[in-house]
Amino acid sequence: MVGSDLKEELIAYLKSISFNGKIAVISDSNVAGLYMGDFRRALTDAGLTVVTMEFPAGEESKTLKTYEIIIKFLLMNKMGRNDIVIALGGGVTGDLTGFAAATYMRGIRYIMIPTTLLSMVDSSVGGKTAVDMPEGKNLVGTFYQPIAVFEDISYLNTLDEKIFMQGMAEVIKTGILKGKDLLNLISDYLDERKSDTLEDIIFECVLTKGEYVSEDEFDKGKRKMLNLGHTIGHAVESCSRYTLSHGEAVAIGLNQITMISEGIEKMPHEEGNLIRNILSKTGLGLDIPDNISQDMLIDAISYDKKCDHDKIDIIVIRSIGDCSVKRVAIDDLKAYVR
Ligand SMILES: NC(=O)c1ccc[n+]([C@@H]2O[C@H](COP(=O)([O-])OP(=O)(O)OC[C@H]3O[C@@H](n4cnc5c(N)ncnc54)[C@H](O)[C@@H]3O)[C@@H](O)[C@H]2O)c1
Repeated sequence: MVGSDLKEELIAYLKSISFNGKIAVISDSNVAGLYMGDFRRALTDAGLTVVTMEFPAGEESKTLKTYEIIIKFLLMNKMGRNDIVIALGGGVTGDLTGFAAATYMRGIRYIMIPTTLLSMVDSSVGGKTAVDMPEGKNLVGTFYQPIAVFEDISYLNTLDEKIFMQGMAEVIKTGILKGKDLLNLISDYLDERKSDTLEDIIFECVLTKGEYVSEDEFDKGKRKMLNLGHTIGHAVESCSRYTLSHGEAVAIGLNQITMISEGIEKMPHEEGNLIRNILSKTGLGLDIPDNISQDMLIDAISYDKKCDHDKIDIIVIRSIGDCSVKRVAIDDLKAYVR
């Protein structure tokens, strides 16, 4: 469900599934500070039993250690298989809570309440859960679907502008996959910042991601299209030693794949210019940072899971709304990445 101030809808949903158990709400320290009090009150006023916990905000918390703390919290509160866990927060909270829910007593129901733009359009949909390891991001996890997702755009009012725009990179990616109507709507929103338009965009992005995921839940085929801009994006993110966020790296990756698509797919330049123009409205950097050399980047790309010897599958844009998987020689990418 996408809308504004959805607590009543959440309570109505819980009644509709005849839920009468206990709810554990997991959140990070920033979101808990802003919203946990009201959230808890709304549920307890409706007669529900609620326990809450928070962990320190930030990607550094997406670890096995925090996972264990969540599991111990659920045990301490005697959460059972009929109870429900709620993730109230951004992608870090969702990924961690989803992984805890997937594995606690071999699986307990969970609900996502995403509070960042990125988590609304991307991480709360599709059931990918994970924690990071010192060796890399998202290396331990499961596919485990939430029973419901409530996307309350009023949470975005307190989100830092830069973090909001990092999520916008994923929104623009979805626009390129879906077609010009959505991309033009995103462009209008970035000019006018009307909340009704944002709600429509988020709804469209969720539907689009839902279409890819429902055809390919376990990421073996069509879902790979959602990696548009991510091969170079992930490489930039890891070469920056994660000083660049995922969204910042995706914006750079989308700019690069636009150039590559104009080169090897003959995507029309007017379309390339449209994409660049919309990306530039986010204020995110679009160039590969100077301290990342071409060699570093090509090396990082060759470690990608989609790499097969000296070739890699990338998602290219034939035209806006028409993307496809293409196997290219990593050497051929050198002409484009700087
Ligand atoms: N599971 C998936 O399919 C998937 C997809 C994309 C990204 N991810 C993961 O998502 C994570 C990134 O998500 P993110 O960008 O939401 O990060 P995040 O959860 O760390 O949130 C970013 C920051 O915003 C704060 N915040 C969240 N909501 C707020 C609000 N409403 N008001 C004020 N502050 C708020 C958080 O406390 C945090 O400091 C990464 O770990 C990434 O790997 C997962």
